[in-house]
Amino acid sequence: MAKCTEADALNGKRLGFIGFGFMAQNLCRGFFYKKILEADQITCYDVNQSILQQVVAEKFEGIHISASNLDLINSSDIIVIAVKPNIALRLLAGLKEAVVTSRHLFVSICAGISTRQIEDVLPTNTRIVRTMPNSSVAVGYGVTVTSGGRWALPEDLRITCRLFESVGICLELPEKDLNTVTAISGSGPAYVYTGIDAAGDGGSMLGLPRDVAQKLAAHTLIGAAKMFLETGQHPSALKDSVCSPGGTTLAGLFALEKGGMRALIMETIKSAHDRAKELEELARRGSNI
Ligand SMILES: NC(=O)c1ccc[n+]([C@@H]2O[C@H](COP(=O)([O-])OP(=O)(O)OC[C@H]3O[C@@H](n4cnc5c(N)ncnc54)[C@H](OP(=O)(O)O)[C@@H]3O)[C@@H](O)[C@H]2O)c1
Repeated sequence: MAKCTEADALNGKRLGFIGFGFMAQNLCRGFFYKKILEADQITCYDVNQSILQQVVAEKFEGIHISASNLDLINSSDIIVIAVKPNIALRLLAGLKEAVVTSRHLFVSICAGISTRQIEDVLPTNTRIVRTMPNSSVAVGYGVTVTSGGRWALPEDLRITCRLFESVGICLELPEKDLNTVTAISGSGPAYVYTGIDAAGDGGSMLGLPRDVAQKLAAHTLIGAAKMFLETGQHPSALKDSVCSPGGTTLAGLFALEKGGMRALIMETIKSAHDRAKELEELARRGSNI
């Protein structure tokens, strides 16, 4: 597993977003905030032109708005495919004859669409990097995993990681692992929200204001995650270190173990993985999901 931290290869590159919705806007905010791209280097296109103009005027002053996806590709070196997965391949297939050249790098953020599927609708030798980000890119704590297609260069993966590191962490893994990644970090925020919600109910059941209980749970989560990441200790060792004999924490853990927490988490990840595989298969067969 390679962590991508190489310094900037983005100087002078022009980046275009096909689709400028939730994910594209959050990425763009990260690029601005971390100053890895100037506004002038960025172009966007979205079918909702009036909303796009308003969003750009209010939040992304100085970036270019393209009149079409075709124009956007013409004026960009790196193209981020940021539309919903069910329209991405059709959209790219429509561009085929036009403007894609060896200078272009396509970076897909579309869940469940393989590099092979994208390669099949674009000219041979097109460089493609597939990414799996999560929604926490919105607050700069995203988790993104990248995989290169057949013709992607090491430089392409470095550039992609450089971009996504502006909104969190970015790792490179083989594409065969992306369904597992989807099941852990892609879908993970929803599992965590459910846990915080449940802690709110538990605290509220015992008389604590629900929002206070939720806040305690959320900060406990951040703190425990930081302890794990920063100490490098095994999670079991960290757990043992806060379980005194006969104490409250072991009493709580006993309830978790009786409820099958570990098996449940493993089952959760496996179920999400299996569903991601199913969706990939449906997309391969061109079925509606
Ligand atoms: N949201 C997440 O947490 C998350 C996490 C990981 C990966 N992703 C991936 O990120 C991608 C984008 O997701 P999102 O949540 O950002 O979706 P989104 O907010 O719906 O943004 C997509 C934008 O693309 C526009 N669009 C539709 N057809 C277009 C076309 N032909 N040309 C240009 N723009 C077009 C959409 O307009 P309309 O609304 O009018 O269709 C919308 O404004 C998806 O492929 C998703 O799998 C999302």
